[in-house]
Amino acid sequence: MTEHMTRMPAGELISERPNTRKVFVKTYGCQMNVYDSDRMTDALAKDGYVATDVLEDADLVLLNTCHIREKAAEKVYSALGRLRDLKKQHAAEGREMMIGVAGCVAQAEGAEILRRAPAVDLVIGPQTYHRLPEALRRAKNGERVVETDYAIEDKFEHLPAPDKAKTRARGVTAFLTVQEGCDKFCTFCVVPYTRGAEVSRPVSQILREAEKLADAGVREITLLGQNVNAWHGEGPDGRTWGLGELLHCLAKIPGVARLRYTTSHPRDMDDSLIAAHRDLPALMPYLHLPIQSGSDRILKAMNRRHTAAQYIALIERIKAVKPDLALSGDFIVGFPGETDQDFEDTLRLVETVGYAQAFSFKYSTRPGTPGADLTDQVPEDVKTARLERLQALLVRQQRAFAEQCVGKTIDLLLEKPGRMPGQLVGRSPWLQPVNIDAKTSQIGDIISVRITAAGNNSLFAEAINVETLGSLPA
Ligand code: 5AD
Ligand code: SF4
Repeated sequence: MTEHMTRMPAGELISERPNTRKVFVKTYGCQMNVYDSDRMTDALAKDGYVATDVLEDADLVLLNTCHIREKAAEKVYSALGRLRDLKKQHAAEGREMMIGVAGCVAQAEGAEILRRAPAVDLVIGPQTYHRLPEALRRAKNGERVVETDYAIEDKFEHLPAPDKAKTRARGVTAFLTVQEGCDKFCTFCVVPYTRGAEVSRPVSQILREAEKLADAGVREITLLGQNVNAWHGEGPDGRTWGLGELLHCLAKIPGVARLRYTTSHPRDMDDSLIAAHRDLPALMPYLHLPIQSGSDRILKAMNRRHTAAQYIALIERIKAVKPDLALSGDFIVGFPGETDQDFEDTLRLVETVGYAQAFSFKYSTRPGTPGADLTDQVPEDVKTARLERLQALLVRQQRAFAEQCVGKTIDLLLEKPGRMPGQLVGRSPWLQPVNIDAKTSQIGDIISVRITAAGNNSLFAEAINVETLGSLPA
């Protein structure tokens, strides 16, 4: 799944009762971790915890970790080193600070974390977050808790739904996990081991959660899953639904104006999902569809189970029904055995597809994955040189895409205050941040704007009429 910037639980500090306890959550990695962090915060609210974004004030620090690449776990261990010092400092002042590690590093490392970082009180994997309050009570009684069972169905049944006030404070866009885990077993990837087998949440649970989000003022919902387009479930009509059918149903919820989904696997783009791109105006014309490499040899070694030509043909099919679709992707350079020619094939594929945005990484060996047993590792300096070339090309494409937007009239969802007073930032249908002069009271509105200029990472726009296309429900 796409990596996102970490998000602090700012704005959720609702009341300052004297005996409330404070939790500081630091989120690493992908959007699913952002979603999980919010659900954990909601689950802890019942025990009197409010979120804080001031680390020094926290009675509980939770690191929601990512294991996708090597450096991600190392970052966690160095953060734990700093927390150990803070915990000691607090203890000297007679204050307790508990430390919990959640997320994919927790799942992968388990008790090893307690060994390497003795200041940690609690290790909890992604499938057991509903047990967090109880695990915390055990940790408070002196037990060093490790909860890493796979019990994913329980998790979704027992985690509290998004809280209305907190959802409102979080803004007009929201994530909604509909699917978790992965059965694809790409040979480089730890996800099938950290998030477990593919599980789809039932339709009724998803609709209930989406209605709650809409009721709290959310206008745009991004459906999340490691393999979101493999989602399936029994519809109210008794038939098996795929993501296309689910999107149709979600688009009918009053207040929901925009839908997105991420991350998709090329093998799971079925006809009904492609038809949804044609038929549903609420479904934004932006698709994150990773391919990882443009070389068929490497795709095979990665166990992606499709070729570059099949991927290109698939994109052509989707673009035939949705010509303004913008693409985003993920790439790995330096997978074991990747030759100069394989890498050239990746560059050629990028040239052919033309990405609006993309994420690219050096291959990083993950223990326990089949890739870790491959001997033909690519030297670090070769990986670095390839990544630089690929990223230069992707940045050029991203700029070109932004430039093409200048002069266009688009719908803009106004999300939050901008950097300058009197400005708001919104998102274009293609997920680009757009700066515009607008009033705070317009947050949640979708307005028609003309793009006037393209900056490095965002666009600038002016409103073309004051009439809103939709506003926040009261
Ligand atoms: N090394 C480098 N990149 C990886 N990704 C996943 N596993 C690895 C790895 N071992 C990248 C893929 C995936 C994205 C979320 O992270 O590109 O799509
Ligand atoms: Fe990892 Fe491949 Fe599953 Fe994506 S599809 S989560 S890359 S194993």
